[in-house]
Amino acid sequence: MKKILITGALGQIGSELTATLRHIYGTDNVVATDIKRTVREVSESGPFEILDVTDGTTMLNIASQYQVDTIIHLAALLSAKAEEQPLLAWNLNMNGLINALEIAKERNCQFFTPSSIGAFGPATPKDMTPQDTLMRPTTMYGVNKVAGELLADYYFHKYGVDTRGLRFPGLISYVTPPGGGTTDYAVEIYHEALNCGKYTCYLNKGTYLDMMYMPDALQAIVDLMEADPAKLSHRNSFNVTAMSFDPEQVATEIKKHLPHFNISYKIDPIRQAIADSWPNSLDASIAKEEWGFKTHYDLASMTVDMLEKLNYNRPIAS
Ligand SMILES: NC(=O)c1ccc[n+]([C@@H]2O[C@H](COP(=O)([O-])OP(=O)(O)OC[C@H]3O[C@@H](n4cnc5c(N)ncnc54)[C@H](O)[C@@H]3O)[C@@H](O)[C@H]2O)c1
Repeated sequence: MKKILITGALGQIGSELTATLRHIYGTDNVVATDIKRTVREVSESGPFEILDVTDGTTMLNIASQYQVDTIIHLAALLSAKAEEQPLLAWNLNMNGLINALEIAKERNCQFFTPSSIGAFGPATPKDMTPQDTLMRPTTMYGVNKVAGELLADYYFHKYGVDTRGLRFPGLISYVTPPGGGTTDYAVEIYHEALNCGKYTCYLNKGTYLDMMYMPDALQAIVDLMEADPAKLSHRNSFNVTAMSFDPEQVATEIKKHLPHFNISYKIDPIRQAIADSWPNSLDASIAKEEWGFKTHYDLASMTVDMLEKLNYNRPIAS
């Protein structure tokens, strides 16, 4: 039976991952931690501790107290916020990660942390970006993610820590708002479509980025962590994706259900520059080969589900 510690558990991924893992492995076997106590569904539905991941001593105390054998390290500053506060990003993203890796080493824990499409840079091949390719990111977030991938591989090769990771694309979900990434528009657009019937997008039409619906992302984490280690020739991190679209395409899909929906554009140069430095689409074939990565949602089925779940009981126009 796994005994899992999650950092950053009240964020966009963690709030849903905690519930999923508690369902699979048992409520008492999943210890959620975060620097704040905001999402009561998570903090009051099972073990929860306040933890600042830059404080390695407290992290070790919590890991020891609950006798954890698995660490899922999610606490991080995301791409757009990291560009605003690069030093804070370096401290949180790198020192938090190495604290978590040290505890995984000390306690012989299995370890997971997400990387991102942000690990790639402008010189990376843009279409069907391969698993192993040139990575020279130009953002602080990307620098952190490449360094984090290398660091997790280092702990695997040098200390035998069972580290595993996924390069997530933009994740779309309806439970917890995204935390300041470049792909947040793909969540906001659904809220605004239902609330106001219009959305002003900060990325330009023609900006293609990889995306994935949260249920597929959660399944991918579980599947990778359960995968036979003998079959993994890659560790940190696997390309994964479910779809690639630009803002016009998601708007067109929403219009099929809300015909009066209208998208307009007011470009944010910082987030546009970040998006322009990232791939248009990833090749996830290595994840499929090594541990059977699969997805269920495409743009059309995700849009139906998002609108239904966010619709606050209003019927959707068919
Ligand atoms: N959401 C996405 O689209 C996406 C895509 C690619 C990769 N990722 C990666 O997945 C991970 C989780 O992302 P997310 O979207 O859930 O992020 P998020 O911003 O929604 O959540 C991060 C959580 O970390 C917490 N946190 C902040 N500072 C902390 C600290 N010092 N100590 C402990 N906790 C702290 C925050 O309170 C928050 O609950 C990150 O590594 C991120 O880079 C996310």
